[in-house]
Amino acid sequence: MSEKKAQLTIDGIDETIELPVYEGSTGPNVVDVRSLVGKGVFTYDPGFVSTAACDSDITYIDGAAGILLHRGYPIEQLAEKSNFLETCYLLLNGELPNQQEFDEFENSIRYHTMVDEGIRLFFRGFPRDAHPMAMLCSAVAALSAFYHDSLDIDNPEHRMLAAHRVIAKMPTLAAMCYKHGIGQPFMYPQNEMGLAENFLHMMFDTPCEAPSVSPTLAKAMDTLFLLHADHEQNASTSTVRLAGSTGANPYACIASGIAALWGPAHGGANEAVLKMLDQIGDESRIEEFIAKAKDKNDPFRLMGFGHRVYKNYDPRATVIRGICDQVLEELGSMNDPLFRIAKKLEKIALEDEYFNERKLFPNVDFYSGIILKAIGIPTSLFTVIFATGRTPGWIAHWNEMLSGSYRIGRPRQLYKGHTRRDYKS
Ligand code: SDX
Repeated sequence: MSEKKAQLTIDGIDETIELPVYEGSTGPNVVDVRSLVGKGVFTYDPGFVSTAACDSDITYIDGAAGILLHRGYPIEQLAEKSNFLETCYLLLNGELPNQQEFDEFENSIRYHTMVDEGIRLFFRGFPRDAHPMAMLCSAVAALSAFYHDSLDIDNPEHRMLAAHRVIAKMPTLAAMCYKHGIGQPFMYPQNEMGLAENFLHMMFDTPCEAPSVSPTLAKAMDTLFLLHADHEQNASTSTVRLAGSTGANPYACIASGIAALWGPAHGGANEAVLKMLDQIGDESRIEEFIAKAKDKNDPFRLMGFGHRVYKNYDPRATVIRGICDQVLEELGSMNDPLFRIAKKLEKIALEDEYFNERKLFPNVDFYSGIILKAIGIPTSLFTVIFATGRTPGWIAHWNEMLSGSYRIGRPRQLYKGHTRRDYKS
């Protein structure tokens, strides 16, 4: 680490406190504040807006420039030239695989796509109309029950096996959430299919007919998974790291990430965008909703807009917008009313001072729902798709943390409650 320093003086503390400053390979420097607790003070950063919670080599975001790198590779190049499974390998291992490494990885994932038959019975306990995220979160946590004792999280090979298992089983579980909701039989994964093709097969095929997955839709699905694969220390990834820091089973950690992703401010936004576009219903009502989003007395926010880190276009949104055109063209629904409303809404918002002043641009969720809807995926399953795509990122961060030195995460607080008082009966 570099020898840069920061000096801090605090009223009531006589000495000038010297704090180490560290430089990363790129991005903002960090001030190491760990010694402050010994001086009787904490830092204060609700929402962790300016807090680096860890070191990481996996993903870098430059929010001002709208840059997203996975192990140094720009997301636009990975979306164009790579695929979801190769990106999973890159996130987990740090380098792109050669052909043999890819084939071995693909084979390992392929032979872990089935889930224990007990999980199939587990789904039967859910009401038909259970939210798919409730089912997914529970089912992934339940995987802990099947692998709890065969896992030494301090063993790198055990950790990598858990990573392969959870990446492989997520598409299967996601499809099971859908099939349970529509009362159709679960479909088994087919070993001759690629991951995205297999997912769409398990979603939309039935035992009554031969598999029929459109290559264009499989490619679009694969790219959507890839674009969601990781995103630095976002809320759900930070949740996975915090759970992992206690030594919890990796499936329980991923389930905690799924739970955090569910919120409409995070991964639930793609579902919320479609509901918002449906609510707007017609281009003539866009101004009405823009006004609502700007009204401080109205809790309504333009879903799919804004980002804690990006103060520029989310590069994923740009790629997804392009895929929208391809998929809607393939499906002959270029005039999809929701897509028309979305494009008009984006144009109006980007010309509006309120959004410009606050640097609110479309994020990854703004267009993804339109593609998912066009593919035939119900709105309630959108965040399940996000979770399936994000799984390699979650498990790569979990593995990175456990591969190095780490401490149990335990933030402090600014206490504003009662000071000591005696119980009076
Ligand atoms: C994801 O972190 C990640 O990396 C997440 C993610 C990933 O890949 O993991 O990128 C995925 O979660 C994308 C974000 C999806 N969420 C949404 O689309 C929901 C709508 N957006 C917001 O709620 C909001 O923009 C957040 C939650 C995304 C960011 O919130 P911040 O950083 O806490 O920003 P803020 O709430 O402090 O807003 C700053 C200002 C406020 O106005 P002022 O008080 O300054 O007047 O901008 C306004 C907000 O009211 N604002 C919006 C708005 N987003 C922010 N106003 C209207 N519509 C919006 N969408």
